[in-house]
Amino acid sequence: MDIRKEYLEFFKSKGHDIVSSMPLVPDDPTLMFTNAGMVQFKDIFTGSVPRPENPRATSCQLCVRAGGKHNDLENVGYTARHHTLFEMLGNFSFGDYFKEDAIAYAWEFITVNLALPIEKLWVTVHENDDEAFNIWTKYIDSTRIIRFGDKDNFWAMGDTGACGPCSEIFYDQGDEHFNGPEDYMGGDGDRFLEIWNLVFMQYERSADGKLNPLPKPSIDTGMGLERVIAIKEGVLNNFDSSNFKPIIEKIETLASKKATKENIGSYRVIADHLRATSFMLSQGILFGNEGRPYVLRRILRRAVRHGYLIGFRKPFMAQLLNTLINIMGGHYSELVENKNFIKEQLTLEEDRFFKTIDLGMSLFNEELANTKDIFSGQIAFKLYDTYGFPLDLTEDMLRDKDLKVEIAKFDELMNAQKAMAKAAWKGSGDASNDGDFKQLIEKYGINKFVGYDNVTYKSKILALLNENFKEVSTLEKNSTGWVMLDKTPFYATSGGQSGDIGALEDNKHIGIIEDTQKFHGLNLSKIKVANSNLNQNQTVDAVVVNRYEIAKHHSATHLLQSALKMVLGDSVSQAGSLNDSSRLRFDFTYPKAMTTAQIDEVEDLVNTMISRGISGNIEELPIEEAKHKGAIAMFGEKYGDMVRVVSFSDVSVEFCGGTHVKNTADIGSFYVVKESGVSAGVRRIEAVCGAAAIAYTKEIIAAMNEIKAEIKNNDVISGIKKLKEQIKELKKEVETVQSQTSAPISEETIGDTKIVVAVVENGDLKKIVDDLKNANEKLAVLLLQAKDDKVLIVAGSKNTNIKAGEWIKNIAPIVGGGGGGRPDFAQAGGKDVTKVEDAKIAALTYAKENL
Ligand code: SER
Repeated sequence: MDIRKEYLEFFKSKGHDIVSSMPLVPDDPTLMFTNAGMVQFKDIFTGSVPRPENPRATSCQLCVRAGGKHNDLENVGYTARHHTLFEMLGNFSFGDYFKEDAIAYAWEFITVNLALPIEKLWVTVHENDDEAFNIWTKYIDSTRIIRFGDKDNFWAMGDTGACGPCSEIFYDQGDEHFNGPEDYMGGDGDRFLEIWNLVFMQYERSADGKLNPLPKPSIDTGMGLERVIAIKEGVLNNFDSSNFKPIIEKIETLASKKATKENIGSYRVIADHLRATSFMLSQGILFGNEGRPYVLRRILRRAVRHGYLIGFRKPFMAQLLNTLINIMGGHYSELVENKNFIKEQLTLEEDRFFKTIDLGMSLFNEELANTKDIFSGQIAFKLYDTYGFPLDLTEDMLRDKDLKVEIAKFDELMNAQKAMAKAAWKGSGDASNDGDFKQLIEKYGINKFVGYDNVTYKSKILALLNENFKEVSTLEKNSTGWVMLDKTPFYATSGGQSGDIGALEDNKHIGIIEDTQKFHGLNLSKIKVANSNLNQNQTVDAVVVNRYEIAKHHSATHLLQSALKMVLGDSVSQAGSLNDSSRLRFDFTYPKAMTTAQIDEVEDLVNTMISRGISGNIEELPIEEAKHKGAIAMFGEKYGDMVRVVSFSDVSVEFCGGTHVKNTADIGSFYVVKESGVSAGVRRIEAVCGAAAIAYTKEIIAAMNEIKAEIKNNDVISGIKKLKEQIKELKKEVETVQSQTSAPISEETIGDTKIVVAVVENGDLKKIVDDLKNANEKLAVLLLQAKDDKVLIVAGSKNTNIKAGEWIKNIAPIVGGGGGGRPDFAQAGGKDVTKVEDAKIAALTYAKENL
């Protein structure tokens, strides 16, 4: 039975729309991964997005539970049922049916479609949910309905959002197989297997922890596909089901070792992690040191360590991918489409870790031998920092020894390292300036940026710094330094937008602002002073000159991100950006090069957004509200309680601190100049807008005019076609001339066999041999050609006793070379061009003697 299909069809027959699995990376910076089927509907549940026409939906959702609120990583391999990635079957009601129908549907599916024996089923309800308890009594004996508290029977997607009490269905696998102390209903053992969770969505939890009743109570259910498959196949462990078994067998083949009772956990970890890493990569998540990329790295390194335990010493994961594709590729085409990319990425990352794992393992083992109660935090940090062992990997290695890491020490070293990295990362300054900046802040406070609404501003010079960031009261004429204005219209480089340039003026020109940067929150502008001194406390007119063109590029970047998501899919996410007055650069995750058609589509979409003249809107909103509006945020960025949201109607809504145009029409036009790869899995688009677009167009027109003049044709395409025709004809002529200048080929016929031995000055020897073979029934041919101090010999034989390989072996030494080949064809090279004629004579003699 195809359970996935059976489930979706069952709920379709109950009026549900089948919807596809959403990407693993949700559009929500507070959520690490899509961790349940309900994630794609979370805003419908809370009412911030209108309900779809059909208030019933069903899906099979790929979920990852690693690194976030729901984290199963550490259990994988140790239990029969935990996975980092799994498929969740679900049915959803958006304010339509509630407990009564949800329970009725679940019961019907379990007992009729899956035909699970009733005597093996148990259910749980929330301790206060009498309503659910009473409904269940219609189906199952009340002694098998258990009440649990919030820990077990209250479900929430994350720390905030939709949530509610839940009711779970359990399958009893029997005490003949599971009889440990933890094998009781609600215990940690595997005997009572939770297969389906019915969540009665009644609340929304806000950031302050309050439970607010939802406008319309809803249903969200989730059934683990892997568990149900295992039950239906009569196996007691998900890893023994057809979903995993072939992968485990393939690992055994690669390792040339059958799994044993002691090390089967390692095989299971690898099989599980292969699925998670392959899917994450296929959806554009890459290996890295923070956020989701670091979770991916931790999963892969955990797999490598288990591979190491069973004997692998070089990358092996890529060789398992075909097996995974055989199992899941039919339903998830992204695995097939991105197969090569996944293989390449897995191998690169494994390679990186295999380089240090040996040293790390010895350090670990050495330390372990000296460890009594607690594993040194310092060594755990060294393992992390020098050998790339994520902390949870070290913890995993200590698990069966019942040891823990000295976390406080580890954290202390980690924080110290972070602080150092931060200090060293100040662009224009260096660590020794820390004190200077702090002093400035103490003396003058943080100076305010007033440039969202102004491009000129009458400001006072609060402080002046020389090039080394030391405070001075005067900057001499013609010198360079930094200026701190009390209120500044100059935007400091941040969020991908480059710092403003401009000028300081009073009734005369005072200096040029070359750049603006942020240092510890201070907005400082770099100034080249004109020909009179600049003094502290002076009042000046600060004038920004490039703002409008930067704003065009920055707004266009937002439109571009939205267009990319429309064309390439929602999993595209920003990986970096740069906006200045002459161009924009946008890096994003996507596993392969965009096609010309896709680039065109994106360009057209952005230009349509521009020509629609959509008004921009900038608001300061509480973060929760911003998220409800669907604002795109950068994952891993820290945002305060209030965030700035820049929107162009509903076309683009982003968290952003930058400066923008008032209306998309101000952008003018948008051209993609280049699409290229930055690193594996990250693409880059460079584009121009506004004045830069005009300059770009002019450049192209100028180049075009030059081409027209060069080819002397106003129609460039037909001109180039004509030139290509001419080249083709000329090439033909050259070939004819060359073939005519070749020495005539001498031939001899002995019996009905043709012998051709010749020195050929020009032409392709192999081709001549082939042509001769086509033209003759019995043939022995050997051709020599001397070119640039080298001799080339090609021989062929067809239906004769002469073996071309032998023949050439005899002849090549005469011209100081060697070679050989098959009986029907052989070639060789030589160095002595003066012996070509000797070789020819010898070849002819050989042919005659051996025919
Ligand atoms: N959201 C619930 C869960 O993940 C039911 O789908 O268990």
